[in-house]
Amino acid sequence: MSKKNYLFHGDFVTARPEPGELTVYENAYALVRDGVLEEITLIKPSVGDDVIEVDWKGKLIIPAFSDVHLHAVQYVTTGLGYDKELLPWLTDYTFPEEARFAGRDYAARVFADLVYDLWSCGTLHSSIFSSINTDATVLLAEKLVGAGLSAYVGKVNMDRNGGIDLEETTEESIRETLRYLDLMAPFESSGVKPILTPRFAPSCTPELMRWLGDLSVKRKLPVQSHANENLDEIEWVKSLFPDSRDYMSVYHDFDLLPERGTVMAHCIYNTDEELEMMRERDILVAHCPASNANIASGIMPSTYMIDKGIRIGLGSDIGGGNRLFMGYHMSSAMKHSRLRWALTDRSSRIISFAEAFWMGTFAGGSFFGKTGALIPDYSFDALVIDDGRLSRYRPLDVLERLQRFIFVGDDRDIVARYRGGEFLPEPNVMVK
Ligand code: GUN
Ligand code: FE
Repeated sequence: MSKKNYLFHGDFVTARPEPGELTVYENAYALVRDGVLEEITLIKPSVGDDVIEVDWKGKLIIPAFSDVHLHAVQYVTTGLGYDKELLPWLTDYTFPEEARFAGRDYAARVFADLVYDLWSCGTLHSSIFSSINTDATVLLAEKLVGAGLSAYVGKVNMDRNGGIDLEETTEESIRETLRYLDLMAPFESSGVKPILTPRFAPSCTPELMRWLGDLSVKRKLPVQSHANENLDEIEWVKSLFPDSRDYMSVYHDFDLLPERGTVMAHCIYNTDEELEMMRERDILVAHCPASNANIASGIMPSTYMIDKGIRIGLGSDIGGGNRLFMGYHMSSAMKHSRLRWALTDRSSRIISFAEAFWMGTFAGGSFFGKTGALIPDYSFDALVIDDGRLSRYRPLDVLERLQRFIFVGDDRDIVARYRGGEFLPEPNVMVK
């Protein structure tokens, strides 16, 4: 189906490829052809009648959000057990909950709500962990396709340390991963794709990691996992993989860090060698500040990492994080950066609002293709914000209005979502 051409009118704000700079086009016009932004101009261009005009005068138009790390199967337990640290939190709350997703009805109900809420919050791109259950994971992918969202979806691999309810044998894990890839093949042309998902090093035997690494190389498949989140976890990884130099090297040693094709969540406690590995392989770090505070993991040194040239997107890490709305995570990233500066190193730098916005739009979006910014040649994946309730007391400039939306607003203020230039209607969440 060929796409239509559009001329959007409104107040545009976008991050750019370099962090730290936002561009504002007030009362401007964006010409979108075949789903791709051609240009934004302050003077209305004369266009032919093949172009449909869409008037959002006075509304903010921003790039859609990308959530580069969340667990669909933790939606129900989001908010529970935050008085524990990572490892007991996983065993006491998270693993028993994920085992419930062996049931189709339960999975269908939860995923319908999650997908609706992602759409509602303007998160049009996401990199998602499901559970070890293949059929539930395919169900999640179907619902994302149905809603017109773009996502990487992973069937989780765990052949050790999951307890009796959440563990596969190595053979099962291999067989189910291949079955998962086969079942995902029909979605090839949609924006929903599979991603290899070894949960984290302690969940996978060296044998399984080797097999997954070979598969990633052979089929050019992306990989997502967790690293350097919690001090007890890091010690555990050292004892499980004594031959690897450090945590990131465990993945590297098994060829599980495809260049430009890896999302690694948390990355709080990194050695300089690990940071160099992230930069060199152009790994996308999923910074999950809300989760890192909730389960007392720590504060990631975001400016230090950005200044080393590392790409950092934002993850809600549902259910370690407690909100889907990415504005909350931009604001959490800013708070973490300020607290780290105040408590540990006043000679360091704090992230700017522009950098936080860059993380949640451009940097995260870079994992999904040419998206995440309103710049020529990029897919027009955008949100329209009616910030009337947030800016009605006195006039604010466009950047101030954006800050009000990010810090004080939420999904109620998003009045339209576009993916590839096309309006994304409210998903039909009826559970079949
Ligand atoms: N490390 C391994 N599994 C998980 C998980 O589900 N959540 C978080 N935050 N860290 C993990
Ligand atoms: Fe996580």
